Amino acid sequence: MTTERPWLRLDLPLEERVEALLAEMTLAETVGQTHQMANLDPDAHRELIGSGGIGSSLIASGATAGNERDEGVRVSAVNAAQRVAVQDSRLGIPLLFGRDVIHGHRTVFPIPLGLAAAWDEDLVCRTARLAAAEAGVDGVTWTFAPMLDISEEPRWGRVAESLGEAPVLAGRLGAAMVRGFQGEPSQAGSGPVLGAGTVAACAKHFVGYGLVGGGRDYETVQVGENTLRNTHLRPFRAAVDAGCATVMAAFTDVDGVPMHAHRRLLREVLKDEWGFDGVVVADWDGVGQLVNQGVAADLRDAAAQAIAAGVDIDMVSGAYAAHLAELVEAGQVPLELVRDAARRVIRLKMRLGLFERPFVPATPPASQSRPESRLLAREAAAASFVLLTNNGTLPLTADPGTHVLLTGPFAHEGEALLGTWSLDGRGEDVASPASAFRTRLGEDAVIDDGRFSDRTMHLVRQTDITIALVGEHPSRSGEANSVTDIGLPAGQLEVLRAIAAIGKPLVVVVFTGRPLDLGEVLDLADSVLIAWHPGVEAGPALVETLFGDRSPGGRLPMTFPRSVGHLPSSSLARPTGRPIEAADDAATGRYLDARVVPRLPFGSGLTYTTFGYGPLRLSAREMPLDGGSIQVSVDVTNSGERAGREVVQMYLRDVVADVTRPLLELADWVSLALEPGAVGTATFTVTPAQLSYYDRTMTLRIDPGEAVITVGPDASGGATARITVTS
Ligand code: NOJ
Repeated sequence: MTTERPWLRLDLPLEERVEALLAEMTLAETVGQTHQMANLDPDAHRELIGSGGIGSSLIASGATAGNERDEGVRVSAVNAAQRVAVQDSRLGIPLLFGRDVIHGHRTVFPIPLGLAAAWDEDLVCRTARLAAAEAGVDGVTWTFAPMLDISEEPRWGRVAESLGEAPVLAGRLGAAMVRGFQGEPSQAGSGPVLGAGTVAACAKHFVGYGLVGGGRDYETVQVGENTLRNTHLRPFRAAVDAGCATVMAAFTDVDGVPMHAHRRLLREVLKDEWGFDGVVVADWDGVGQLVNQGVAADLRDAAAQAIAAGVDIDMVSGAYAAHLAELVEAGQVPLELVRDAARRVIRLKMRLGLFERPFVPATPPASQSRPESRLLAREAAAASFVLLTNNGTLPLTADPGTHVLLTGPFAHEGEALLGTWSLDGRGEDVASPASAFRTRLGEDAVIDDGRFSDRTMHLVRQTDITIALVGEHPSRSGEANSVTDIGLPAGQLEVLRAIAAIGKPLVVVVFTGRPLDLGEVLDLADSVLIAWHPGVEAGPALVETLFGDRSPGGRLPMTFPRSVGHLPSSSLARPTGRPIEAADDAATGRYLDARVVPRLPFGSGLTYTTFGYGPLRLSAREMPLDGGSIQVSVDVTNSGERAGREVVQMYLRDVVADVTRPLLELADWVSLALEPGAVGTATFTVTPAQLSYYDRTMTLRIDPGEAVITVGPDASGGATARITVTS
């Protein structure tokens, strides 16, 4: 068998195996590897699979599956389809099965924006590793995550899936997610190179999707290559450097060229310049949509443009399966383009070890997540919470006889706390806030019906303190869910006003998939905690945080603007010719009717203690461009009475550059866990590479000259020092 089929020989180098298989493939089989269908059915599609006419399947209920539930993955169907591919097809090439495993599988963790708020690469890696293990048992070999779209537009529902607005944060967390999904790659021999028990990751959506006009999903994107390179491409580069196996093209156009036809960015930048040898997959019908976007006359034309641009797999449009072979025969598409696409798919299957282990072992999938998985889910949920304001009302003290009212539309929720893109989560797995409160407080818990009605006011008057659980349902976030108003959903603010008017302590917990305009809530509540959509352990994580068993340690991964009228409002701002002075919003560039600075800056978040920052200490003031570095340290004192975590952030600014550079760009962060009174030191290493950027000619460079280092608790500022980069 293996002598006839040298591609199965593990003693040969992987690339030799790939080429040996490619050499055997007919044009139809080659095209087959580029064709992907949704929900492949072993019976209905037996002939197609048996002929080698398909290479992969996506298990999803529809075009915007993130907001829908489906029946889950049927392992028996996966194995049955695989049996046809491996045993009945001429070359026996196994199929890939992809699914959107975005923030957990059966064990659902916080939405990615919430995970990002933990600013913790190790945590993100562990959640992805567990998701991969659970998904693998279900027969999934490929997930469409991490989502790395730089997100500074809260009207866009998809920010919930993102890792925030800062390239360095999204890049590092994205790379950690890739390592979690894919495991530690093994270099040995030509066997599987992705870790065992893992799935292939997919960095998406390449690129610029976060810039959709007006925050409307799928809208056209206006951006130049310089901004793409200096901002939006950076997390993708980090994921590719971490070995991310696949990349997904974005639905949008970039400055007039739809990404599924964007040869410059897909082929020239991603594949040629970065040396990416993995698979570029289309988004759902993205190839077909070139017709809707008005750049392709028909599906045939769309197929020709997409394969030339570098899209290797056509997700569901059918354009490649219908037209590629004929386009090659007509001399309109070079055979080598199609062979290169198939080569990448085969390489991925070999890297995954699918030729050796095509079938899902017959271990029954866990009907419920295991206790240790739930503990990780609780840790992740609690780590994602961000405390926005607190006048000392939190943490709550559980004095016997103190009656705590739990109210608001999320008090009894289960499934809604899983968030968007939790296809395999189950509402019944969720520990709701009401159940966790009841467990904690017993008779002292007063739990409202969640309707937020007149009865609520009655209960507020009768109890000592109110915890109001408000915010947006996940059906208002995720794909195709954009809004024009980023305030709380209809009616909630009115009820909060009425509760606050009664004059008793009020804690507001906000579940959300996006930054909200919380201006008035921040003023009327005693404490406000952002809880995102926290996953299966929502209730216990919340109770443990509100009662102080855990301290909130999250920091905002996106700016919270003052209103929609203030957008864009983020930490990515660059200097203008007439700068706004942050202190008074004077000068030009201001609004006449409002302050420009964000309501809550990127990186901000409180905890149950306070921290004092000492002066910056620098190991040198000059940094040679060639191999130099400077150590920057700051002492941070826990000046309060409880233990807590501070996320010390370092921002850089290149003062004079070839193009406008951010006023303050996140370069690194250090987490310090400090006991009351303890002093910790955050030490950063500044390197010339952190100041590198693409210039007017799209060349990566570092400027000799002045740079400013700022170290502080968020993007609104901190202690600064000037250094000089010397040539
Ligand atoms: C469309 C979404 O844009 C993408 O993120 C997702 O991975 C695919 N559908 C597959 O479900």
